[in-house]
Amino acid sequence: MSCTILITGSNGLLGQKLVHLLKEKYNVIATSLGSCLISNQSGFIYQSLDITNEYDIGKIFNMYRPKYVINTAAMTNVDACEDYKDLCDDINVKAVGYISKECEKYNSHLIHISTDFIFDGKNGPYVEDDDANPLSYYGLSKWKSEQVLLKSNCKWAILRTIILYGTAENLERNNIVLWARKALKDGQELNIIDDQFRSPTLAEDLAKACYLVIEKEAIGVYNTSGKDIMSIYEMVERMADFYQCDKSKINRISSTTLNQKAKRPPKTGFILDKSIKELGYKPHSFEEGLNLLEKQLN
Ligand SMILES: NC(=O)c1ccc[n+]([C@@H]2O[C@H](COP(=O)([O-])OP(=O)(O)OC[C@H]3O[C@@H](n4cnc5c(N)ncnc54)[C@H](OP(=O)(O)O)[C@@H]3O)[C@@H](O)[C@H]2O)c1
Repeated sequence: MSCTILITGSNGLLGQKLVHLLKEKYNVIATSLGSCLISNQSGFIYQSLDITNEYDIGKIFNMYRPKYVINTAAMTNVDACEDYKDLCDDINVKAVGYISKECEKYNSHLIHISTDFIFDGKNGPYVEDDDANPLSYYGLSKWKSEQVLLKSNCKWAILRTIILYGTAENLERNNIVLWARKALKDGQELNIIDDQFRSPTLAEDLAKACYLVIEKEAIGVYNTSGKDIMSIYEMVERMADFYQCDKSKINRISSTTLNQKAKRPPKTGFILDKSIKELGYKPHSFEEGLNLLEKQLN
């Protein structure tokens, strides 16, 4: 019989991709805060689960005894994390403690998702061992979540990623690629920052990285982003080229004009050598990702 995988945050972008990818091969227990947003609910079990509720986490573990747990659930709105620090701590840090404790108890392997926002963006691209220095509360919370795992006795892998993009059903949060695609196709004027550099990550690539961790029983920290590093401005320009839209409508702006609550790192990006070598991770290029997205949206 195939083994059981528990996914938290299964309504999110990564969560939905994981359910579709893993249900073909494993017993998938998908959990998220609200009711299930995936319309075809065959081939997996869905249970509502608030990961800040320690008792409910214990009940789910006791019921399903998962061999692997993939924790994608998080408070991901970076500016909201500045305003609601306690809630951010509850979801992004304390809950990781509850989950890792159950993983210890049931000998489950925990795969946890972290972010480039643990770095200050002064020296990107980063390798796994570079020193963290988060600029935002969100970044700090994810860095603290990594420390929770470092101190825990469960088997764990941390996959760090950068700007996830892709499409899924009824997503609560838009992503920049979907937003820019619509604006470009509608011929709207776009103001895009040119002073922050990232490696956008196709959600399917990160889901595949989680799968590779399971297949290889991998332990440790892995950089798992897209492979192309570009400014956000360049990203939207490349999208305009891909969709053959008018680039003159894209205006360069500085991030200082946005007055965002949370500070963002200027230049991140990851060196992917470790995940390529140890996991066999093979991310798509940005244009290959856009191509796949286009097929899904049409
Ligand atoms: N998105 C990015 O650009 C990015 C970049 C770097 C790292 N990451 C990390 O990658 C992971 C996945 O990101 P994503 O973009 O797929 O996230 P997402 O689309 O925002 O989904 C997160 C999911 O977490 C669930 N959730 C929130 N609070 C919860 C709680 N208390 N209990 C249970 N579930 C809860 C929500 O479920 P409901 O919908 O049911 O409310 C939501 O669907 C996160 O850990 C994030 O920190 C993301």
